[in-house]
Amino acid sequence: MDAIQVQGWIRTRRDSKDFSFVELNDGSSLKNLQVIARNSLPNYSDVQKLTTGAAICVRGALVASQGKGQKWELVAENIEIVGLADDSYPLQKKGHTPEFLREIAHLRPRSNLFGSVFRVRSRLAFAIHKFFQERGFVYVHTPIITGSDCEGAGELFRVSTIDLKNPPRKDNEIDYAKDFFARQTYLTVSGQLEAEAFACALSKVYTFGPTFRAENSNTSRHASEFWMIEPEMAFCDLNGDMDLAEEIVKYLVHDIRENCPDEMELFSKFVDKELPPRLDFVLERPFQRTTYTEAIELLKKSGEKFEFPVEYGLNLQSEHERWLTEKHFRCPVTVFNFPKEIKPFYMRLNDDNKTVTAMDLLVPGIGEIVGGSQREERLDVLQENMRRHKMDPADYKWYTDLRRYGTVPHAGFGLGFERMLMFVTGVSNIRDVIPFARTPGSAEF
Ligand code: 4AD
Ligand code: MG
Repeated sequence: MDAIQVQGWIRTRRDSKDFSFVELNDGSSLKNLQVIARNSLPNYSDVQKLTTGAAICVRGALVASQGKGQKWELVAENIEIVGLADDSYPLQKKGHTPEFLREIAHLRPRSNLFGSVFRVRSRLAFAIHKFFQERGFVYVHTPIITGSDCEGAGELFRVSTIDLKNPPRKDNEIDYAKDFFARQTYLTVSGQLEAEAFACALSKVYTFGPTFRAENSNTSRHASEFWMIEPEMAFCDLNGDMDLAEEIVKYLVHDIRENCPDEMELFSKFVDKELPPRLDFVLERPFQRTTYTEAIELLKKSGEKFEFPVEYGLNLQSEHERWLTEKHFRCPVTVFNFPKEIKPFYMRLNDDNKTVTAMDLLVPGIGEIVGGSQREERLDVLQENMRRHKMDPADYKWYTDLRRYGTVPHAGFGLGFERMLMFVTGVSNIRDVIPFARTPGSAEF
């Protein structure tokens, strides 16, 4: 057999009588390659000093393994020592807690768990593009720096080059007309408004990029920088929007199970034993739908003691969302038609004049994974919504233009990429599905 060459990092090494066994991993898969280093190697004494974490390059012959646990092993003809690691290397063989590994986020991708999470993250991103491209959606790159607060929640990170010690002033206020963009700008919380412009030209579009929220909620489901997938469809109403959200969630679960079997096995063994039955359930059963008003009734009648109050007109809290999907419906559920007071300006007003065509898709274990709506396509109603939200329609001329020229019913949603990844892997903290998490008080690495 021809010699092959591999390179990677040593997971473990142990000595036997005439040779040394090296477990090598290059991150391409969960499985290690066993390397046999015979004592006839010219640098055998150096090989015997190699420790966990060291990088080597091995040339040798791949042979059927006699031992248990692997089909093949590599009998080394040459081992080049590329980079040593000493015994302060923090990823020793024993299992580490995710909390400890978070503190060494630069090394944790070398662990089985995080290597798996990030391979699945990559596949999930690919599957998202595949889903939309197969359905004729056009991928649009919406800007990261923007002047608008799409969600109207005021959770914006300012983008400015103004000297904080000596800002330009006008009438005792900071004069942002002198700032870099000659106006106030922020990191985007959502690409939706710009995606709407493209949907009203290319019909079916999607964005997939980073979004930013200066939201001071230190929970296991919130990050200050996260990725969002935002499809937007012209000639589409709320039902079509809910259909697409359900379809993509199922598609992604199916794709990851098909294409990442080793990783999924690891997650079900070491992260969440309930993962396989929960995902089976998602694939096999139709999702449920309920209006916000019905959901409030159900929660009130539940007899459950919640920390936060349940009242028409209040937002559903995570505990309420989880009761609905985990205890009541016992499957993913889409809640739709929310009171207009608790939703952003762009959502379409229903004929009852009280609710808007909002929808949230909730899944067991996480709660909200998708938030979306049909958009207000009627110019006068949109302008009225803006005023109600204390916005000046003049600041959004380009957005209202979309209602002036060839307006159409259109709808879309945002799927939280990390929340989807948490859902398919069973990993319960968002910090553990992002390579380098940004959360309030923390932006290391
Ligand atoms: O519900 P949200 O705020 O909706 C929007 O931003 C709309 N403009 C989307 C649209 O209609 N095009 O956010 C959408 C999703 C949520 O359902 C959640 O999955 C995720 O984004 N998300 C977060 N993920 C992680 N950390 C945060 N702080 C998140 N905030 C929202
Ligand atoms: Mg939402």
